[in-house]
Amino acid sequence: MRWKLATSFASLIGLSTAQLARYVSPSDSSVSFSLNIPTSTSTSGSGAIFFQIRGPATGKTWIALGIGSGMAGAHIFIVYTDGSGNVTVSARAGQGHFEPVFSSDAQITVLDGSGIVGGSLIANVRCDNCLSLAELSVTNTRSNWIWADKDGSALDSSDVEANIQQHDRTGVFTFDLTRAAGGDSSNPFVQSAQSSASTTATGFVTRTTGGPRPTSTNGASGDDGDDNLNLGSGSSNIVSSAAARIARMLKIHGILMGLAFAVFFPLGAIIIRLMPGPHKADIHMIVQVVGFALSVAGLAYGVLLAEDLRYLKETHPIIGMVVMGGLFFQPIVGLIHHWLFKAKGKRTILAYIHTYWGRAILILGIVNGGLGLQLADNTTGGTIAYSVVAGVMGLAWLAASVLYYVRGGSNIPIGGDAKLEKPLSAEGLRE
Ligand code: HEM
Ligand code: HEM
Ligand SMILES: *[C@@H]1O[C@H](CO)[C@@H](O)[C@H](O)[C@H]1NC(C)=O
Repeated sequence: MRWKLATSFASLIGLSTAQLARYVSPSDSSVSFSLNIPTSTSTSGSGAIFFQIRGPATGKTWIALGIGSGMAGAHIFIVYTDGSGNVTVSARAGQGHFEPVFSSDAQITVLDGSGIVGGSLIANVRCDNCLSLAELSVTNTRSNWIWADKDGSALDSSDVEANIQQHDRTGVFTFDLTRAAGGDSSNPFVQSAQSSASTTATGFVTRTTGGPRPTSTNGASGDDGDDNLNLGSGSSNIVSSAAARIARMLKIHGILMGLAFAVFFPLGAIIIRLMPGPHKADIHMIVQVVGFALSVAGLAYGVLLAEDLRYLKETHPIIGMVVMGGLFFQPIVGLIHHWLFKAKGKRTILAYIHTYWGRAILILGIVNGGLGLQLADNTTGGTIAYSVVAGVMGLAWLAASVLYYVRGGSNIPIGGDAKLEKPLSAEGLRE
């Protein structure tokens, strides 16, 4: 994945009673998202919050704001025209890369000032339970939000479950909730027409599906154009944004896990079966321990990612944690087996446990890498690269194991004595 810097559109407007954090779409400055956390909520830590979704009166089929940093698990609010001069605000639950389904979980109220007003499509919304629903803390200085919009003619539907088409643009950004706090208005957006507010917004990731790429107004963007992810940072470029951090962690996690599960572990398994000479167990151990270290580091990034993206309940992280838990015993059992064998000259049941447990766990892990790529919506290039490497290594491993059994497997049976038979190699493994 390559990333490019784009501009940010945060600007300071001034101080006021109601403090608004504002984020402006990097591709269309008429699309913006504002947030206010009234003082009563910010001091008690719970209560209502206000947000505004704003766009041009024509040219957009829908505009949406969501709490989260990916579609899965996000609480999404989609705004479209209702056909009678006002707007429909549809609260939905994001479940992955498909149309989010209507959800009545969020208690929202559409406020005064909403509608087609002076050339703008405006939705002023109060959400009474968004903080608790999204497990957002008012002290969070880097809360993750997503936005998306779809170009086209007005939807004109008052149905909150109206069918919508996939977005043309999406992005991720962060709101510093402490800077959205202030005021006690029951409708900060109407009031803020006179007394304005301080605005902040940090980074964003923009994915365009078709349509024009988002352009940058200050020429800060690079020109690598082979994928459609654009990474931005804050106005003053101080903020290494949440989006940038996530992108980096995703890459590191994928590379570490891919190396461990698609390269090192299969290689180690092949070595123990095919390498001639007495050192196969030692080399196997070294290769697997390196793989193990890589995967533990990858796990750390995976857990951070999953927390950030609220993905802990997804299949990929769950299987991943099961795999990592199962993997934990593998070097221990392997080592004990090795020591026992050297001490007694006998293979123990541990050889079987280590072999079959190891095979099951590794296969699950390799498959799980594919699920990770799917979850991350990785480029086809990345997916193909992983599939090819994992496929080739997997087949080589299968061939090595089959060959090993065809040649007769271990020449020392479980409980057998290495000294009675003439050991052909370390561990009683036939060469
Ligand atoms: C995370 C670390 C490890 C993993 C994932 C792992 C994985 C595996 C796998 C999958 C096999 C079976 C290969 C096949 O498919 O035929 C195997 C066999 C074996 N491993 Fe490991 N291993 C690890 C660590 C170790 C360590 C630290 C030792 C200690 C020397 C060790 C010693 C062995 C031995 C002796 C065998 C052959 C067992 C037999 O058939 O007698 N392994 N390992
Ligand atoms: C068997 C172990 C694992 C393997 C082989 C693996 C592999 C991968 C791969 C290849 C990706 C895609 C990276 C990219 O597109 O650049 C990925 C993404 C991800 N993985 Fe894992 N992973 C494993 C375990 C875990 C664990 C234990 C967790 C969390 C506890 C986790 C959480 C994630 C998350 C959150 C993503 C990003 C999804 C997104 O961007 O939407 N993974 N993983
Ligand atoms: C749109 O609906 C809201 C909520 O019912 C109302 O407060 C607002 O005045 C309406 N806007 C227009 C332009 O009618």
